[in-house]
Amino acid sequence: MPYRLTVIGTGYLGITHAACMADLGFDVLGLDIDADKIRRLNAGELPIHEPGLEPVLRRGLESGKLRFTTSYEEVAAFGDVHFVCVGTPQKRGEYAADVSYMDGAIEALGPLLDRACLVVGKSTVPVGTAERLADKLARLAPAGAEAELAWNPEFLREGFAVEDTLKPDRIVLGVRTERAEKVLREVYEPLGDVPFVVTDYATAELVKTAANAFLATKISFINAMAEVCEAAHADVKQLSEALSYDDRIGGRFLNAGLGFGGGCLPKDIRAFMARAGELGADQALTFLREVDAINMRRRARMVDLARELAGGSFHGCTVGVLGAAFKPNSDDIRDSPALDVAVTIGHQGGQVTVYDPIALGNARKAHPELNYGESAVEAVRGAHVVLLLTEWQEFVALDPEELGAVVATRRIVDGRNALDAEAWRSAGWHYRALGRP
Ligand code: UDX
Repeated sequence: MPYRLTVIGTGYLGITHAACMADLGFDVLGLDIDADKIRRLNAGELPIHEPGLEPVLRRGLESGKLRFTTSYEEVAAFGDVHFVCVGTPQKRGEYAADVSYMDGAIEALGPLLDRACLVVGKSTVPVGTAERLADKLARLAPAGAEAELAWNPEFLREGFAVEDTLKPDRIVLGVRTERAEKVLREVYEPLGDVPFVVTDYATAELVKTAANAFLATKISFINAMAEVCEAAHADVKQLSEALSYDDRIGGRFLNAGLGFGGGCLPKDIRAFMARAGELGADQALTFLREVDAINMRRRARMVDLARELAGGSFHGCTVGVLGAAFKPNSDDIRDSPALDVAVTIGHQGGQVTVYDPIALGNARKAHPELNYGESAVEAVRGAHVVLLLTEWQEFVALDPEELGAVVATRRIVDGRNALDAEAWRSAGWHYRALGRP
């Protein structure tokens, strides 16, 4: 009999995992403590923006394979395999990750587990968490050792969540028993030929943080080169292209610009440093401090460039901002470099109007003090400076003439090296970009 799956926590990761597993043919029950979210999900309404996910969600609901609940009792009775996908945000005022939602899930579920099952952590956690949670589960579960913990980190990217879930490049399993490995191999069998790395808890937890640390380092490396290019009057875009032809380096995650944000990379590298410190291995990760600092300096540099174009001060200056999401194809504004820059310019006296194709609602809620436009043209109307901060295709495709007709002065800073500099310059724009002459 195929396993019945539950997914605890319905954020970007949990909703996608639940809907995709139902699409693969499993009976899936999703849980969240947010009743309003559960009501919306059961009605087929996505509380997040994720391309391609809504049809998968609807298919699951219509086939009866997928349901959502707020009841841990229901989840415990239903599931053979419980995936835990709750958030692990950065602690307020600290680098460390807040794993209290993870503990909360185990504390709620554990006492209800009275038969053989597998609890599978998917969230990104500090190394050592799985071992601690396994002890907790063993203490709480009436089923004893029959209710077992495994760790299965998730690598999906927002904007590509469905694709990454159904076609993962690898599956990492941190397990203590052959039974746990066997169950998870069966669960993922419908995905076809995917490389498996089967290991212990600690290694599985570390794979995820190491992957994100590497990606962050790659972005900050090219952004450090951008700083040098700015000083040396060189062009980081061409530099990056030339590096990309070296297979050992590769071109992905080598786009210089405003740097990384979002709910993962920034907090994960900080939590990684904090955990290494606790383990007495902080020296190994001091370079991540630099990775973080380079990343944050890009935001400051962007504000400086904008101020320079504004004539030295933002007072009396209207700034049109294109982009609020931390990256294109997402409505996520968590630690968004774009919004950070917009807010800073507002604090420095600029009149800022922001437009984003999808993230406008979230941005408005978080920063009611900014102005918002309903289109790119509306956001830049009367602007003395235009800033491109998130590289949505809609912005890349903008016509410099059409935009030029509504701004006060044709000045633009391309924060993502996404525009065709020549096309904008020949339309009479003063075009500047990060890391380029
Ligand atoms: C990331 C990891 O890629 C994913 O594997 C992990 O599971 C969660 O964290 P995500 O946060 O969705 O995924 O975004 P990602 O596509 O990795 O982009 C992160 C940030 O880096 C964005 O702000 C993006 O704009 C920026 N970025 C990316 C660059 O500045 N330059 C690049 O070349 C690539």
